[in-house]
Amino acid sequence: VRVNVDGGSSELRTVWLDDGVVKLLDQRFLPFEIRIAEAHGLEELAVAIEDMVVRGAPAIGAAAAYGMAQAHLQGIAVHEAADRLRRTRPTGHDLFHALEYMSNAIDAGENPVVAADKYAQEDVDRCRRIGANGAKLIRNGTRIMTHCNAGALATVDYGTALAPMRVAKERGRRFFVYVSETRPRLQGARLTAWELVQEGIDHAIIPDSAAGHFLSRGEVDLVLVGADRIAANGDTANKIGTYMKAVVAKENGVPFYVAAPSSTIDFAIPGGAKIPIEERSPQEVLQFGGSPVAPKESPARNPAFDITPAKYITGFITEDGILRPAELRRTAKLPPLRRRKTTKRKTTKRR
Ligand code: MRU
Repeated sequence: VRVNVDGGSSELRTVWLDDGVVKLLDQRFLPFEIRIAEAHGLEELAVAIEDMVVRGAPAIGAAAAYGMAQAHLQGIAVHEAADRLRRTRPTGHDLFHALEYMSNAIDAGENPVVAADKYAQEDVDRCRRIGANGAKLIRNGTRIMTHCNAGALATVDYGTALAPMRVAKERGRRFFVYVSETRPRLQGARLTAWELVQEGIDHAIIPDSAAGHFLSRGEVDLVLVGADRIAANGDTANKIGTYMKAVVAKENGVPFYVAAPSSTIDFAIPGGAKIPIEERSPQEVLQFGGSPVAPKESPARNPAFDITPAKYITGFITEDGILRPAELRRTAKLPPLRRRKTTKRKTTKRR
């Protein structure tokens, strides 16, 4: 993450291990304060993930990798650490990918700190390749719409949906980004807008409910979002509100791309209906900045993610290139699915 302070600029990762302490760029205080949170043990780290000190599927994965390393240093059994971390946030796949990666590394006798650092570095490398692969979609004048925060803050560094924008900017392209505010936690208004300011990329924050308006008036050329979990058939879980954008984009002939690393793809889940959707506290909806905004008698519902069916997705920008849903298996070095032979159905005459 680029942080511009006092006329200078420095680079920070979202998560790292420092002398046995997991350090996290505390995303709850951005864009107003740069604070570093510390997790001294398993429970503190698990609560930091639940409270969204660190958030975004790949960043949660890396935080869990460091948490596993820290737990091992503190003599906690691998399965105990993995069980606690598995219960933090259910939707994003990177968490489970990281727990498996670290369990395998520890079982194989690898140094867990070295393995966690390697996991984090691999995440950065995947994001850089996503940036290079996706930048070709952004030309001078392209008007992009994004949702939530799929930037450097949501990964170890560099981002997924924001990575192609970073590369396009480095190449001198001029383009514009509509940032939907992303109620109720405002990851768009607080985090994506902040990253775009740091990078000097033109943008405007819009209310979530204005997305259809801009899409229908031909003011958006491309929708570009991240993902929390992609099922084997390409159905994609991402921040609540993504599905509405995808449907309205298709209705208006606007291409809709999902940028995600292979660590987000879950080939064990055949379709979106099986992806667990996290439901967060109603208080996130009933309050705004800590102040109530609704009658105290009113309950609320707060699903954190929705599923966008693969039919609305133009392509996936991955570290292995831009793929159609049917080509996702390439990221796992799996052969393409063989088409089933279509047998003609017997037709019965209607009486
Ligand atoms: O609830 P959050 O902030 O963790 O949700 C994050 C998202 O939905 C992102 O779009 C997704 O994790 C992709 S991040 C590269």
